[in-house]
Amino acid sequence: MSRSVTQAPFGTTPDSQAVEIYTLTNPHGIQVRAMTYGGVIVSLKTPDRTGELGDIVLGYDDLAHYVADSPYFGAIIGRYANRIAKGRFTLDGKTYQLPVNDGPNSLHGGTKGFDKRVWDAHSVQTDSTVGVVFHRVSPDGEEGYPGTLDVTVTYTLKDDDELVIDYRATTDEDTPVNLTQHSYFNLDGAGNGDVLGQELMVNADSYTPIDSTFIPTGQIAPVAGTPFDFRTLTAIGARIDDDNQQLKWAGGYDHNFVLNRPDSLPADALVHAVHAVDPKSGRTLDVYTTEPGIQIYTGNFLDGTITGKDGKVYVHRGAFTVETQHYPDSPNEPSFPSTILHPGQTYQSRTVWKFGVQG
Ligand code: BGC
Repeated sequence: MSRSVTQAPFGTTPDSQAVEIYTLTNPHGIQVRAMTYGGVIVSLKTPDRTGELGDIVLGYDDLAHYVADSPYFGAIIGRYANRIAKGRFTLDGKTYQLPVNDGPNSLHGGTKGFDKRVWDAHSVQTDSTVGVVFHRVSPDGEEGYPGTLDVTVTYTLKDDDELVIDYRATTDEDTPVNLTQHSYFNLDGAGNGDVLGQELMVNADSYTPIDSTFIPTGQIAPVAGTPFDFRTLTAIGARIDDDNQQLKWAGGYDHNFVLNRPDSLPADALVHAVHAVDPKSGRTLDVYTTEPGIQIYTGNFLDGTITGKDGKVYVHRGAFTVETQHYPDSPNEPSFPSTILHPGQTYQSRTVWKFGVQG
């Protein structure tokens, strides 16, 4: 198999915008298809231990279903991944009100976030990589956020079976920025049951507990002795129904883990965040990131009412996400690492997904 990047039409939005889909293929047959609507990764095929390719991300077969109703399947999330309490924050003495779209809070950039916008795109290629570059300018005031935000997100598929996701943004006014990628993984194949038997190692000694509306309390709590201790490889389902207030509020895991980052490490260095294993197919996923946190969400809101690609039904806990990010609600929590981007600075963030198999 040879390395390639191709482009094809993928339909038209209800407001008549043409959408394109890019297909990245590496020499081992790993294939990523991503479209200009939301920068959505529509499919991601990797080999299992026998070498058979399978699609490991949830999604739909066509654009219309994404436009109609998607729980952020595969999308770029912005301007602010995760929640901002009551959709409100104060910056430079001014209070901003964002759309409230998740109980009392603002989630994933508001009513029409980056996941629902059509991006410009072009392909890129080197002698060991293929990629697609998504770009858009989010106008001042979009979804209530201050400043014009110029955003570039690049997906680079490498010959060594890594997908590198690079985020860059600049602004002309102080503004909060927190970008992520919202793929739902099922390493046994999208639609092939739940992920409770799949195993995770999360390189985090602590996490940010939430209130009943999923907003962090501000506390950084140790995972030791709790169902949030994934420092050694543990099945997702091993403790998910434990009698634990945090798990009950969220209906499972839907929490930000505080990644271990040695003080000596430069701020822009990658840390190993997650090792995920599917004992059944043998597929593994490793996540590396420059971000301080990661939202692990176990598809608790999937309930079997969505039929996705190839007519497959997405059952309760039929996927997990690995949303690398700054902590939720940081604009309202001064003790968390800042998410404010200033004019003249460049927001830069990198996450790497490495695909593999174990015997
Ligand atoms: C959130 C979940 C939410 C999901 C899909 C995740 O990032 O933490 O609570 O249901 O996205 O919207």
